[in-house]
Amino acid sequence: MLDIATDGRTWLLTGPRSSYALRLTENDELLHLHWGPRITLADAEYLAARQELPYWPFEAPVDGHEEYPVEGGPRFTRPALSVRTEERRGTEWTFQEYEADGDELRLRFLDDGLRITLHYRMRDDVVERWVTLANEGTTVELLRADSATWTLPRREESWRLSQLHGRWAAESRLARGELTYGEKVIGSRRGHTGHQHLPWVALDTDATEEHGEVYGCALGWSGSWRIAVAQLPDARVQITGGAGYDESGLLRLEAGGTFTTPVFAGLWSDGGHGGASRAWHAYQRAYVIPDADRDRPVLFNSWEATEFDISEEQQRALAERAAAIGVELFVVDDGWFGARTSDRAGLGDWTPNPDRFPEGLKPLADQVHALGMQFGIWVEPEMVNPDSELYRAHPDWAQFQPGRKRTELRNQLVLNLARPDVQEYLWEKLDALLSSAPIDYVKWDFNRCFTDAGWPGEEYPQKLWVEHVHAYYALLDRLRAAHPGVAFESCSGGGGRIDLGVMSRTDQVWTSDNTDPLDRLAIQHGFSHIHPARVMAAWVTDSPNNQLNGRVSSLRFRFVSAMAGVLGVGGDLTRWSDEELAEAREWVELYKEIKPVVQRGDLYRLRPPSGGMSAVQYVHGDEVVVLACLQAQHYGEPLPPLRLRGLDPAAIYECRETGELYRGVVLLHHGLRTGLRGDFDAKVVHLRRM
Ligand code: GLA
Repeated sequence: MLDIATDGRTWLLTGPRSSYALRLTENDELLHLHWGPRITLADAEYLAARQELPYWPFEAPVDGHEEYPVEGGPRFTRPALSVRTEERRGTEWTFQEYEADGDELRLRFLDDGLRITLHYRMRDDVVERWVTLANEGTTVELLRADSATWTLPRREESWRLSQLHGRWAAESRLARGELTYGEKVIGSRRGHTGHQHLPWVALDTDATEEHGEVYGCALGWSGSWRIAVAQLPDARVQITGGAGYDESGLLRLEAGGTFTTPVFAGLWSDGGHGGASRAWHAYQRAYVIPDADRDRPVLFNSWEATEFDISEEQQRALAERAAAIGVELFVVDDGWFGARTSDRAGLGDWTPNPDRFPEGLKPLADQVHALGMQFGIWVEPEMVNPDSELYRAHPDWAQFQPGRKRTELRNQLVLNLARPDVQEYLWEKLDALLSSAPIDYVKWDFNRCFTDAGWPGEEYPQKLWVEHVHAYYALLDRLRAAHPGVAFESCSGGGGRIDLGVMSRTDQVWTSDNTDPLDRLAIQHGFSHIHPARVMAAWVTDSPNNQLNGRVSSLRFRFVSAMAGVLGVGGDLTRWSDEELAEAREWVELYKEIKPVVQRGDLYRLRPPSGGMSAVQYVHGDEVVVLACLQAQHYGEPLPPLRLRGLDPAAIYECRETGELYRGVVLLHHGLRTGLRGDFDAKVVHLRRM
């Protein structure tokens, strides 16, 4: 809902539980008024009338209050917008008009020929903000154009900042600490979202898992990015974020040129960190993720089983075993194309390897379909190995700086996707590939960062950073439109490209290359603070874990850990014993039963993974699923019962496996006995309200 004051200079956006208000002063300063519980327009006008910008020597009165601080004039905070022309730098805008288009508010400003429009849209309790810039005058260079600046209310208590940090095989781990004066900057200068930080922050003063106020901000951009959280001299906190890591330039807009920033979404919740996560999940399922009401199938992926050593015969054998344990989607990972027998060759040549698949992929895809499964493949289109047909034909299609070394990481270079000829090549190859065989699923990988982002001959090579992302999005959109039955997974050496931007055009993400079920609990715990189980791919692989740490764990523990997301199997099934296969079949069957609850339900993090027992719970309609994992029991002490959440206290719940009856109020206040013991024990409890 959007309310506008009669003078047309105070605006109020309202969702089911929260409101956001802003106003324009007589001097065309756009000031923040409110972000928090629902208020009325009269409340917003009252706040506007009382807003004070006290004078203080050496400070700017508007600092800490502006919705979108531009560079120039008396301002000392980090500018959200920084532009320059041949003649000058900075912005001095005048307000033109506002437009209320359904739920979207547009505020239009003008600075000479540059039109600056701030967009606001409330979707449930998430405020989506973005900016469009349109140049009608002399050439303007966009040094920086953030999507939004968020302002928190003043509080006596200190703010705490939560973030999700990591690296390869250790993504999205939650860190929480006190914010102090100055700036905390997170981001990526790597060309992709990066494993190091998810583009999300949350701020609270005293929230717990289920109580208290939490402010969250998440950026929808899959290239380099930056979020800066600033505590200003008067202790006010502002968060600004957008595309690009620094101010070295995004784009040059000639007359007629436009730029639309990615969306920076903000959420206020008074339901603690758990309530904030559930609101983020509901928002993504309703507005971001394509076809979110369609549950994702259980998949098998061949990577850990076979790595590069693949053959049609061996994939057929794996497919038969996968089908026998109930897998619904069979995915051939790396190694099926070009001269790709190791990571040294083949990227760029997107046709099946003739020795490995002499008749192409169709015969295998047909067999997989005959076994009752969907068929998927792995690709990494934005890359090229120097040892490839593509590179031999077009060495200038890679990103490079003239006269400098071309840095190879994993023996590969990044293609310059900003080039229309590269875009067209990839479109043709991928469209042909998806037409050549009945392919239902594409795992789209991105396995190295930008290092030599040059574009010889191009006047403004810097634009490559932004245009690569636009081209990647456009290619995905075009492929999705041409092949509407194909689902896409975003992978980047595991979780290196996970953000709201990629989420709006892919069906799930590869959470991490780390498939160790214990490490995964922490990775998944962090991930769940922003993204829902519906997109979080998780595989059961071999024990001892052959990729990372050699850890030995029971099949039970591995399955329950992976059932917290989109379940997959990634072990070498040809080496699993009959008993293991039979057990796996039962787990897959159970997962299919609870899948709608996990993938569509509300998530409650009952206990974080911190050494003992951890547990998550999902509630969907009358159904409840609890996944409990015990790392280690100590001193033979029985584990305390798990207090469930989100239940109807007056209802009776029946356990689906045992038929045992539980009383809602007892589960809520006294808890559920899990019976877990020893090391690496785990359990699934599926209840239904009677
Ligand atoms: C990346 C992915 C893996 C696998 C390999 C294949 O590392 O994250 O899952 O697909 O590439 O080379």
